[in-house]
Amino acid sequence: MMKSTRVAAVLCGGYLLATASAWAESPSRAAMLSNTCAGCHGTNGASVGPSMPVISGMSEAFLLDSMKKFKSGERPSSIMGRLAKAYSDDELKLVAEYFAKHPFVSAKQETDPAKVAIGKQIHEQRCKKCHIDNGRDSEDGSILGGQWKEYLQISMSEFRSGKRVMPKKMAEKMEGENKLTPEEVEAIIHFYASQK
Ligand code: HEC
Ligand code: HEC
Repeated sequence: MMKSTRVAAVLCGGYLLATASAWAESPSRAAMLSNTCAGCHGTNGASVGPSMPVISGMSEAFLLDSMKKFKSGERPSSIMGRLAKAYSDDELKLVAEYFAKHPFVSAKQETDPAKVAIGKQIHEQRCKKCHIDNGRDSEDGSILGGQWKEYLQISMSEFRSGKRVMPKKMAEKMEGENKLTPEEVEAIIHFYASQK
């Protein structure tokens, strides 16, 4: 009686172990693929380097779309194009899911209150329709609120030089007769960077 109970307990323990490792397997593949990203984008996407964007907490759709555009060359890059080519589309999807699940962590940086105030006005008039919640919601694109200033500067330059194609409706708000001056660009960057 005693003996058979012990056998059952041992079997049961072994079964639990086997089940636990099978259960842990799929998350660890995504985590493993995402590990490569941590060297530049920080642990779980919370980048600590000003020219590396924070990527956690953005929508899965935006992350996947960005990486596919890097891979095809549609979006210009210094690094991401070559890197994305090393991943299959299925792997990119796993990685996008992984970072979308981790919360966005605002970059810790200084901003100039006078520039923030001017930037806020521009945001209210021209950008908030899409970059909602002061740029902290990624529903329609990337998260701008709390992103590194240096990275935002790079993005804005790529858009303004035409290297990176911007959505038509966004272009209407900052090109042509609505062309932003360099001072206005600087102000809007400080506004988004000041968001917590
Ligand atoms: C060697 C450094 C490096 C590594 C490793 C790296 N990245 Fe990047 N990432 C960058 C840089 C730099 C940019 C800005 C675009 C560029 O110049 O390549 C960027 C941009 C991005 C963006 C665009 C963010 C936005 O706000 O539009 C996404 C998404 C991204 N990376 C995802 C990833 C993922 C996922 C991985 C891992 C599979 C990864 N990166 C690995 C350096 C890196
Ligand atoms: C009609 C909607 C719309 C409006 C208005 C709009 N944007 Fe955007 N914005 C987007 C979308 C969508 C993206 C993602 C583009 C992509 O990478 O495909 C984006 C991306 C960006 C990025 C790139 C962030 C990154 O991760 O690289 C910046 C910076 C930006 N917008 C700034 C602005 C500013 C400043 C304004 C106002 C002057 C503005 N946008 C107005 C839709 C809009």
